[in-house]
Formats: sequence, C-alpha cells, structure tokens
Amino acid sequence: MRRARARTCGVEGVGRYVLLRVSRAGLEPGEPGQFFMLSPPGRVLPRPMSLCLALPGELGFLLDPIGPGTRALAALEPGDELDVFGPLGNGFRLDVERPLLVGGGIGIAPLPYLAERLGVAPALLGFRSAEHAEAAALLPGAEVVVEPEYVTERLEPGYDVLACGPEPMLRAVAALAPNAQLAWEAPMACGYGACYGCAVELGGALRRLCVEGPVLAAADVAAPLAQEEAA
Ligand code: FES
Repeated sequence: MRRARARTCGVEGVGRYVLLRVSRAGLEPGEPGQFFMLSPPGRVLPRPMSLCLALPGELGFLLDPIGPGTRALAALEPGDELDVFGPLGNGFRLDVERPLLVGGGIGIAPLPYLAERLGVAPALLGFRSAEHAEAAALLPGAEVVVEPEYVTERLEPGYDVLACGPEPMLRAVAALAPNAQLAWEAPMACGYGACYGCAVELGGALRRLCVEGPVLAAADVAAPLAQEEAA
C-alpha cells in the first residue's frame, strides 16, 4: 500500500453511477475487492472505493454520487489532482472452481476487475431501477434483475459465489451460499485499522472491515448472524 497524488483522467456517467478514472501514479491495483481511500481536493475525509477497473496506466472507480464526498469526487475534471491511498484490506480469494459474481447496486463496483482477474465468470446483478441497471454494461453478458426482483431469487446452488452489495443482500446470500465470499460496504475514516469507524458488530464482537475485510467468508459471518438473530 502507498499514498500518491494522482491526476483525474476522466469522469463518465454510467447510468446513475459515475466512473472516475485516475492516473496510476505508481500505485498497484492490488487484489479484486481491496479498496483505496480517495481524497477529493479540499475535503478532510477520504472516501473508500474498491477498484472497478485496472486500465493501462489508470485506475477506475465506480461512484454513486449521493453524498458530499462522492459528489466532490464525481465533480473532478480531467487534470484535477486527488490523493489516493491503497490498496487496502483483504480482497477476494481467486482460487475458486466455479465462480459466480453477484452484485447489488453500487456493490457491482469491484466485479469488473474481479471478472478480469478470474477470466470467464458468469455474473448476476441486481439494481433498484432500469437506469441504475445501465451500469451492467461494465460486465458484458451479466444476468440482470431489477427490483422488485432480487438476485437471491435467481441464485442457483453449486457455485462459488463472490458477492458485493448492501448488507441485506449479503445476509441473504450468506444463508443460500455458505461458501460464498462477501465484500461488505462500510463507512471508513482511516482505512488501516486505527479509528474503528468501519467496525460492525457480528455475534457480539466488533470487526474492523478495513483490516479483517472488506471481504469476509460467509461461513465466518453466518454463525455470528445466527447468534444475533437468536438473541
Ligand atoms: Fe478506521 Fe477501519 S476505517 S479502523
């Protein structure tokens, strides 16, 4: 991991999302599912973003510009500089036999890079609207569902599921696919274990997603979740 001052190469709309491309600035892309802290100029708090695309000479991040930090990143213009810190956290294990990528909403962000690293892998994506679903273009050939249908309704057994999305989706995937790998979304302040801003309580224990995750094994998560639900 390292910190670098990168330059904005492009900002493009992808449905309701925004693809931000920045210069690599000597940064390694890391493993799929790892994340970077992106600091837009003039803002104190960086935003955690998993890598979406490892392009020649560039890193691509998919943003959902719904808060001040993500809107500031989406407002960058080519040539603007920003601080980038990473790669951070634990990514997906790639030693799987029958991968199926499952993404919900902005949770599709790490999947294009994951698909590239795995080679051929089917994908199942869920979105809240047809406009959001335009982002499925980042994963050509993906099966797409739009609410009120959910990805878990299409999930078939026998796959090594690698998933990223909102917590309710991940909980449902964990129940259906006990060997799944799940990338959790969480607000993060430091990105390296110092602040507990990313801690989630699972089974009574606080787990810092920036160092223990963001990718966790469903088996590690399912037992604490069952304890929580029984409590
Ligand atoms: Fe600071 Fe995880 S973001 S401990």
